Amino acid sequence: MGRKDGLVGLASNVDLPPPDISVANAIQYYGKVGFSALETVVLLGGHTVGVTHCSVIKDRLYNYKGTQSADPDLDAFYVFFLGNIICHNDPNAVDMFVFLDSPDSVLTVDNSYYKMLLAHKGILPIDNAIAFDPSTSGYVNDLANNNDYFLDLFGKTIVKMGLIGVLIGNQGEIRQVCSRTN
Ligand code: HEM
Repeated sequence: MGRKDGLVGLASNVDLPPPDISVANAIQYYGKVGFSALETVVLLGGHTVGVTHCSVIKDRLYNYKGTQSADPDLDAFYVFFLGNIICHNDPNAVDMFVFLDSPDSVLTVDNSYYKMLLAHKGILPIDNAIAFDPSTSGYVNDLANNNDYFLDLFGKTIVKMGLIGVLIGNQGEIRQVCSRTN
């Protein structure tokens, strides 16, 4: 069970989408590896756990698209909360982490991420974008309304993602220490 590790690990080989990727490009990005638009939205539900950092979202809090003010799509209380408590507008401040889901649910895999998006509390630009783009907002609504539906689809989609580029035969290895090759 599980996936084997590669024999080479280079930052230059890592292909990760940027946080401000457009919805159309995100759908295209996951489409290339076999996912539908719905599955792309379901995969982003991975943000039901984990964190980002102030450096990633500072523009949304303090200088959205060069306006010297916050992203008007971000809930005003959240802007106040994140700005005053966590992400200070000071280049010397420690780059604090910010929960991607609501603080009371960030340790639980559930559909609260989608509820946060609909409440204009999506943290990353792409999180917010999927909630209000006409091509994905219906999916976000459905997922926000039904936790069982989310859990079922999320499980299936994560398993499908685990089947991308599987190393077989003598490709790769099972590492003795996960941070380096054997
Ligand atoms: C368009 C697609 C995606 C974009 C643009 C994106 C972007 C990001 C960014 C910018 C961060 C924060 C990194 C940091 O500040 O250190 C993050 C964190 C995270 N992402 Fe995504 N992501 C995407 C898709 C996914 C998918 C498909 C999954 C899993 C199914 C996922 C799971 C996570 C998790 C768990 C974290 C938190 C990591 C931690 O706490 O250290 N993301 N993502």
